Amino acid sequence: MSLQALKLAFKKELASQFENVELNSLLAMLFEHVTGWNQLNQMLHKEEPLDKAQMDTLQNALKQLKEGRPIQYIIGKAWFLSNEYTVNEHVLIPRPETEELVDWIIEYAQIIEKPLQILDIGAGSGCIPIALQLALPHCTIAGLDISEEALVIAKQNATHLNATVSWLQEDILNTTYLPNQYDIIVSNPPYIPYKENINMQVQVKQFEPNLALFVANEDPLIFYRTIARLGKQYLSQNGQLFFEMHYDQGKALLALFDEMGYHAELRQDLFGKDRMLRASLKK
Ligand SMILES: C[S@@+](CC[C@H](N)C(=O)[O-])C[C@H]1O[C@@H](n2cnc3c(N)ncnc32)[C@H](O)[C@@H]1O
Repeated sequence: MSLQALKLAFKKELASQFENVELNSLLAMLFEHVTGWNQLNQMLHKEEPLDKAQMDTLQNALKQLKEGRPIQYIIGKAWFLSNEYTVNEHVLIPRPETEELVDWIIEYAQIIEKPLQILDIGAGSGCIPIALQLALPHCTIAGLDISEEALVIAKQNATHLNATVSWLQEDILNTTYLPNQYDIIVSNPPYIPYKENINMQVQVKQFEPNLALFVANEDPLIFYRTIARLGKQYLSQNGQLFFEMHYDQGKALLALFDEMGYHAELRQDLFGKDRMLRASLKK
């Protein structure tokens, strides 16, 4: 069967599950992964037959897509700020709003100019500290996560992308010690209350790590409060906290940071939703 015929057959099979634009993009990713041809080359080679091994891999991927497994886990990679990262079920798939958070930090760090000490809490695939290190090579960056399996992937990504990051395995909710003073502490912590999982896509709730996504219903801001508390001890003078957040937690987070002695501001993502927060201690 030719590449084009197979792609069309897959489109038919998956049409009820995905919007057209998303489907085109995930099939392009899948076929590139299997054939090694980018989108342009897939067009040029559209009449070429695929071999048995390629057909088997694609049929297996189709089955997984139908079951709801995200394409990034099927092909084992995801993109973040133009770089390719290895991902598996132990790490969250990096999201576009997190790219916006990293852009904000880079903007801030470039104005400051001096070498900064930066810590990312909840590093997952390592996308935040690695992207920061690549953009700010004069800064010293560390990534922390509770999950040993996630840190394996983060270290692998750092090596592959030639980024110098130090890694810490810690439960941030149960630590009172950090090894440094930091100019920036950043976190995209778990922030979805468990009760919201009924409204979530199967792809996310069934396949992405619960540890990365969910917090207890009774205290959904626990990571922010804990990091704000640590910030009082471990932020250097003029140090800044940067966070990703749930779009409807803005008001509650501004109140929390104010109460804890911080000035805080929200930032909106490309869709105009409150998705990021920056805070610094009141003088
Ligand atoms: C929302 S994910 C963010 C992953 C990555 N930074 C990103 O933006 O794609 C949250 C991360 O926090 C980690 N985590 C969850 N509980 C933690 C804890 N108590 N201490 C440290 N890290 C924790 C999870 O393992 C997960 O990697």
